[in-house]
Amino acid sequence: MAHVSPPRLRDFERIVFFTGAGLSAESGIPTYRGTGGVWHKYRWQEFACQRAFDASPEKVWDFHDARRGVVAACEPNHAHRILAAIQREKSETVVITQNIDGLLQRAGCTHVIELHGSLWRVRCEREGIRKENFEVPLSKRQCDCGDYWRPDIVWFEDALDPGNMRDAAAALSDCEVLVSVGTSGSVYPAAELPRIALERDVVSIEINLDETPVSHLYTYVLRGNATEMLATLWD
Ligand code: OAD
Repeated sequence: MAHVSPPRLRDFERIVFFTGAGLSAESGIPTYRGTGGVWHKYRWQEFACQRAFDASPEKVWDFHDARRGVVAACEPNHAHRILAAIQREKSETVVITQNIDGLLQRAGCTHVIELHGSLWRVRCEREGIRKENFEVPLSKRQCDCGDYWRPDIVWFEDALDPGNMRDAAAALSDCEVLVSVGTSGSVYPAAELPRIALERDVVSIEINLDETPVSHLYTYVLRGNATEMLATLWD
């Protein structure tokens, strides 16, 4: 049963945020599954999996270049900035995100675990190279070795980075409070992670416009925009 008034985040030291596309929605970046969601417009099988990239790298890069363009035209919102402010004041705060847009970092967040990679990194599988790249569009789609750069994103059917999973699990095993912000909680294995904290019976708060399949697991459920709800918890 969800309670009405959650405690103030200022009263905790070890805070973990688990965030999804809803965090960036108020910046103007479309979510994946709601109305106007990315996967309603584009079939992930054609644009967001290794098989699609192997079959049509140019088409997959066109899609990702377009996404770079959308994100580059957007600014971090108040919710991103609040998380950055909390990290400045509470140095043990960890942000675990499924977002690939880099807006948390642009807002000033320093400790971010990017479970699904980043739109702003590319890697060459043949050379084993990974590097940041902020061009819109990417100026050169091939590495010097001749292979295509691949977006360093965890696509559908990819495994998550074991180091990121370990770091996220460690933070969730140790936190005093877990705040989930703007995620449908429906994409696994990422969606499994918050359970580590939820099963420890920590203070848990879900911020979302709508009910999710995991809402009932949280002590407090805040229905509303990420910006307003985080401001309520922090400001
Ligand atoms: P979804 O699009 O599945 O869910 C977004 C959630 O945010 C929904 O539950 C909305 O109700 C909520 N929401 C929307 N606007 C909001 C707002 N302003 N304030 C609060 N909540 C809001 O996105 P994710 O859960 O992040 O993977 O999806 C998980 C993964 O699926 C993504 O990381 C992505 C996708 O395939 C990759 O790109 C690798």
